[in-house]
Amino acid sequence: MVYALICDLPSKWEKKIVGAMNVTLLPGGVCAEISGVNLCRPLIDNVFSKIYKAWLGTGALLIRGQCLTDKQLLTFAKQFGDLEFPPSKLLSLMNSDSSSDKIPSHINVISNVVENGRPIGQLGAGEASWHTDSAFVEEPPAASILYAIEIPSKGGNTTLANMTKAWDSLDPVLRAAIRGKKAKHDYTYTSVGERRKDFPEVLDPREAPGPAHPIVRTHPDTGRESLYLGRRLNCYILGLSLNESEKLLDQLWKHAVKPEFTYEHVWQVGDVLMWDNRCTMHRREAFDKSERRIMHRAQVKGERPYFEVE
Ligand code: SIN
Repeated sequence: MVYALICDLPSKWEKKIVGAMNVTLLPGGVCAEISGVNLCRPLIDNVFSKIYKAWLGTGALLIRGQCLTDKQLLTFAKQFGDLEFPPSKLLSLMNSDSSSDKIPSHINVISNVVENGRPIGQLGAGEASWHTDSAFVEEPPAASILYAIEIPSKGGNTTLANMTKAWDSLDPVLRAAIRGKKAKHDYTYTSVGERRKDFPEVLDPREAPGPAHPIVRTHPDTGRESLYLGRRLNCYILGLSLNESEKLLDQLWKHAVKPEFTYEHVWQVGDVLMWDNRCTMHRREAFDKSERRIMHRAQVKGERPYFEVE
């Protein structure tokens, strides 16, 4: 199997693999595929700098055919910055029903698998609606890195949407309406619509718990502006009436997830898909709950979103 071969390569072969590294922009320009790299070992500087450049340039990377332990996944992630905890831990809500002592705490298990009557991970088999990871904390992660260990025979595709492209092509009237404005990001519900333990139901988005972030944010590394919408449920634009906020958000969302800003990923075991959370949203389609899907995710720390006025 190609998969095992890549893992078992002696280090003398590594150089050859690195030498063959390729960066290919996938159709739509939302994700770049990196081939010819073995993430089992730390990447040498010039290889990493090419990968980093491709990541900043597109906002998302696909690296297929990997065979990683959690430690190797975290080592890869660490090259992009300090590791961040999974959302539940970020919210100090470590849920003993869905965590396992065997998993390093920076690894977020995304899975529908139930073992001994307990879910081994988060998000089940339902649709995860469009969102930016952990926009509901003051300093949301900069990067999310998702590694496929088991996948269902169909469904469970993950689609990314590039928010820089969405902002660049937004109607000037809408751009003027949101420039400099902030939106509140509710942390009560997960992306599959489940209410987090211990948080009361939200009856009015204006009262929802969570930080406010600029709706247009400046990327700290590229200086480019992107829409930053978090998630639709219970979002609220500060300073507007609830009706005005809902109307404006509906217009923004309609634009933000147009197919021309998206890349739909059909998973293979061994895929690593990573996205820049500062300028990319994503959703996961539902899949048959009788099938197994196990993904391990690492996250890299980010900064408080800001909008730099020219
Ligand atoms: C997520 O929403 O972060 C999970 C995406 C996926 O399961 O593909």
